[in-house]
Amino acid sequence: MALSKNVMKVQPSATLAMSAKTKEMIAKGVDVINLSIGQPDFVTPKYIQDAAIAAIRSGKTSFYTPASGLPELKTAIGQRIEAETGVHYDNKQIIATTGAKFALYLIFQVILNPDDEVLLPAPFWVSYAEQVHLASGQPVAVKTTGAGHKATVEDLEQARTSKTKALVLNSPQNPSGLIYTKEELTAIGNWAVAHDILLVSDEIYSNLVYNGNQFVSAVSLGETIQKNTLLVTGVSKTYAMTGWRMGYVLGDAAIVKAMGTVASHATGNPTAVSQYATIAALSGSQADAEKMRQAFEQRLNLLYPKIQSLPGFALAEKPQGAFYLFPNVKQAVALCGYSTTEAFVDALLEEANVAVVPGRAFGQPDNIRISYATDQASLDEAYRRIAAFIQAKSSTEA
Ligand SMILES: Cc1ncc(COP(=O)(O)O)c(C=O)c1O
Repeated sequence: MALSKNVMKVQPSATLAMSAKTKEMIAKGVDVINLSIGQPDFVTPKYIQDAAIAAIRSGKTSFYTPASGLPELKTAIGQRIEAETGVHYDNKQIIATTGAKFALYLIFQVILNPDDEVLLPAPFWVSYAEQVHLASGQPVAVKTTGAGHKATVEDLEQARTSKTKALVLNSPQNPSGLIYTKEELTAIGNWAVAHDILLVSDEIYSNLVYNGNQFVSAVSLGETIQKNTLLVTGVSKTYAMTGWRMGYVLGDAAIVKAMGTVASHATGNPTAVSQYATIAALSGSQADAEKMRQAFEQRLNLLYPKIQSLPGFALAEKPQGAFYLFPNVKQAVALCGYSTTEAFVDALLEEANVAVVPGRAFGQPDNIRISYATDQASLDEAYRRIAAFIQAKSSTEA
């Protein structure tokens, strides 16, 4: 039985594959430090857990909810987004989904016709291209020339064709941690409007911003850009809620309605208990989220200079948000006698027991992604192991 053409184009998630391999080694008793993870290492704050437990006990989580989410959840989402961006959305412009990942999946399902193109400035998050394939679209990796892997209007213009339907921008960006400035975003937003290209703005890391850097939401740049933008975000990263699977989209009411229709035939509503937990997360005190943000900031500040100092690692731009470092390791790979980044990453895992993700899945094969969503002692030890690995390998090579 042949699989569908769309499915045959899809690669399994490289980040999940690396995590699975790492977990397998850990289960066998190997002391692996896992820096391949894309989720906070904290548990969900207690006030959110408590609200979820109370919701279960009340009995109201036993039932289906509207496929696009409870009205009171949409109101809580709208209020939080208004507080953060200054933009008001009506409930009919809001949909809650089973994670931001499924939100993006639904967007491509409802906007793409076969062979419509979606621009993905590289490096880009691993799932975008595969989700575009699953919607019969054509992902187009855009070579970026702006500071630290950011796309410029010229980069996008080079990639634009008559089939370009949408552009996905991710700021703060996974994996580079960089943030688009107001000027950069405005130029791109205006370009998208001028060419009738929908801007899909993935702002899932918008609350994880460090060292006084400023996050700018694409929807805060005036009505024209805002109307041409779908804002995608969720609670996974800000509130340490990856397992609860809750994301949301705010934007054009007709697109949001179509997404709800597709969701109603796919997952149905996002899990009811997660919806109640999300209402608590968004409406309660943001103090716990801030504490986690500060912990990430501290880790970044300690780890960045160390990673920069590794022989053959290049990382000129300090990440401003998210929880990843994305150094170019081309020279380190050569120094250690490997011909590909993948071979270097495999050896790092098997011989030094440190797991990172090769950059190819993000569209940048000379880089690796290092997550600092783990405790400081593990980060210190991982640095020590990587440094020792490079020293041992490079002296053998020399
Ligand atoms: C850039 C980006 N967008 C979206 C997501 C999806 O988040 P979730 O489905 O957990 O809400 C992730 C998760 O890793 C991500 O890194």
